[in-house]
Amino acid sequence: MTSSRVTVFDTTLRDGEQAPGCSMTVPEKLRLARQLDRLGVDVIEAGFPIASEGDFEAVRAVAREVRRPIIAGLARAKQEDIARAWEALVYAERPRIHIFLATSDIHLQFKLKITREECLRQISTSVAYARTLCNDVEFSPEDATRSELDFLCQAVQAAVDAGATTINIPDTVGYTVPEEYRAIIHAIRQRVRGIENVIISVHCHNDLGMAVANTLAALEAGARQVECTINGIGERAGNAALEEIVMATRVRPDRLQYETGINTAELYNASQLLGRTISFAPQPNKAIVGANAFAHEAGIHQHGVLSNPLCYEIMTPESVGAPGNRIVLGKHSGRHALARRYTELGFALSGAELDSVYQAFTALADRKKSIYDQDLIALLPRSRREPKPAAGPGARAAFAN
Ligand code: KIV
Ligand code: ZN
Repeated sequence: MTSSRVTVFDTTLRDGEQAPGCSMTVPEKLRLARQLDRLGVDVIEAGFPIASEGDFEAVRAVAREVRRPIIAGLARAKQEDIARAWEALVYAERPRIHIFLATSDIHLQFKLKITREECLRQISTSVAYARTLCNDVEFSPEDATRSELDFLCQAVQAAVDAGATTINIPDTVGYTVPEEYRAIIHAIRQRVRGIENVIISVHCHNDLGMAVANTLAALEAGARQVECTINGIGERAGNAALEEIVMATRVRPDRLQYETGINTAELYNASQLLGRTISFAPQPNKAIVGANAFAHEAGIHQHGVLSNPLCYEIMTPESVGAPGNRIVLGKHSGRHALARRYTELGFALSGAELDSVYQAFTALADRKKSIYDQDLIALLPRSRREPKPAAGPGARAAFAN
């Protein structure tokens, strides 16, 4: 029986870094690698050592300092790439060489300009060479989901025969759909000899917004490593978001019976640190870690959440290390939320006062996107504004964003 433990392979520092505006310096990669270690990821892909001197230095620095997780370095199926990756990884406690070579006809014909036979030969020789250096070798047939299935199985067979210990099946261009991806993983498990002795990994891009759904489908078919990034950064539309995969398994153990070693209380810290490092935060409506993931503006929702957060929240903000839910005041807000905010600011309003201020508040909210505490105080009759009471513990300088 396949174990329920899933290896979390974080590629924020490699695939994530390849996205426009996401490149990182050596100290930045080191700081993030320490946070990924606190988060509990099993594998950190720290970079592509042959790509640049900086990337080589970053992989080497992470390999030297971060001792618990496996540290992986990427290499093309070429001797010089593999040797360079090994040079960067040699001092790691647990090194892994990750080799990739495309197997789809479109890549073989137009990008690599090699035959299928040559592709199989390069897989065998590169994986065998990497195994002379390192016991842990991962092979990825790039563009696997657009490769002809029989040839994909031959490529995976060549890698397994040459000694690969993990086989990754990338959906390089985010093209597959859950049903199809599940079938590909299933076929590989059925057809490749010796596949039961290696870990099957998945690596999904988000071009059609299905990276996480595809990843979860592959787990159902027996994959046991997920490749993902913090905030879902990565080439083009990004990679499967680590926080979404992990929280799906925590929130829905009835449907997704998988375990990871992730300390979910560190998810928000990881997202914030990455956002500060690359100078852009995830979009506000990003699942799990976005600014609005636990924010409520509509009156009906606010009333529900104030009565019991479970009405509109399927996980607690604390479980992912987020600061707590936010009741945002705007034109959809109701009296409950308005009364609570005035109370937090130290103003105990009578029912009549609340009625009149609520009218003024909705009129203002129709004109203004963000309502701040100062706006709320200005809505009160002059005689009620002074002396200014001390703000309650929940007071914030700007209550709406
Ligand atoms: O998307 C992809 O195919 C990759 C490989 C290098 C694994 O990132
Ligand atoms: Zn990728």
